[in-house]
Amino acid sequence: MSLNVIDDQYNDLPFEVTPYSPTIGAEISGIDLAQPLTDAQVEGVRAALLDRKVIFFRDQDITTEQHLDFARNFGEREVHPFAPHKEGYPEVLAITHDRERPGQENGWHSDVTWRLEPSLGSVLRCLECPPMGGDTLFSDSYAAYDNLPEAVREKVEGKYALHDFEGFRTRLRDRGIGEEQIEAFNKSYPNPEHPVIRSHPETGRKGIYVNAAFTKHIIGMAQADSDALLGVLYHQANMPEYQCRFRWAKNSIAFWDNRACQHYASSDYWPHFRIVERVTIIGDVPYYKSDGPATDLDESPFRGRIKRQHTDPGPNLFKV
Ligand code: SIN
Repeated sequence: MSLNVIDDQYNDLPFEVTPYSPTIGAEISGIDLAQPLTDAQVEGVRAALLDRKVIFFRDQDITTEQHLDFARNFGEREVHPFAPHKEGYPEVLAITHDRERPGQENGWHSDVTWRLEPSLGSVLRCLECPPMGGDTLFSDSYAAYDNLPEAVREKVEGKYALHDFEGFRTRLRDRGIGEEQIEAFNKSYPNPEHPVIRSHPETGRKGIYVNAAFTKHIIGMAQADSDALLGVLYHQANMPEYQCRFRWAKNSIAFWDNRACQHYASSDYWPHFRIVERVTIIGDVPYYKSDGPATDLDESPFRGRIKRQHTDPGPNLFKV
């Protein structure tokens, strides 16, 4: 399977697709999200999402109901148990930052991996953006996996890792939530164990499925060894070659596949306002299958040092 998918495949879709980078991200135009989507549009959006991992829409002046309707095309919406929601809309996460509440989503993550059934995808709508900054970055988890040295892949294939919502506990305490209530949350949301390398349920492709925000350790490994190996895996999300970056404008929308990418909201706009709203679509229980479409690395657009690292990781970087 080629990593570089820019070709004629988008010609059949009922809208325009403009890729952002070789393997991740694309802007979709010629579709009005204020209208109910046709079956062909829904299938087209799904195909574009599966291929590009995150897709972007511009100038979509839609209502909250229309935001929810769009997400409904792709699955059931979750109610986040901890994060504040928009008044009257429990399924709409209200993410507001300003002088008193600086940005805090600036860590690489995939949404709600601390759930037993984490998210399929998230649909984020921009209501107000700062004069500059506040971009969101996305990192391709397939490319991150595909370009791991063989020695690292051998260590992580088939392994499971424990996930936890620790960061939210701190935020709950900051909001004055007592220990009794937090203990009740611990019981309602026990730590799941998810595969370190996840097989995507729709594409069959393998991707790294641990993230610095929610993953605690790899099961069955000493904490120091697990930390070292997780450090190598987390580092992959930082590689600019596997990323794209989205500059927000009012009424822009991003729809990302949490099973195939991680994201990072740049917190570089304080003290300005940034108001976005997220509808999160529930996914399935992650699993790992050893077989699946393999990447032909000779087709990889990532040459130079990354390609050399793949064949020769060097003596220290991947010593775990
Ligand atoms: C999120 O992490 O879900 C929010 C991303 C953003 O605000 O850009």
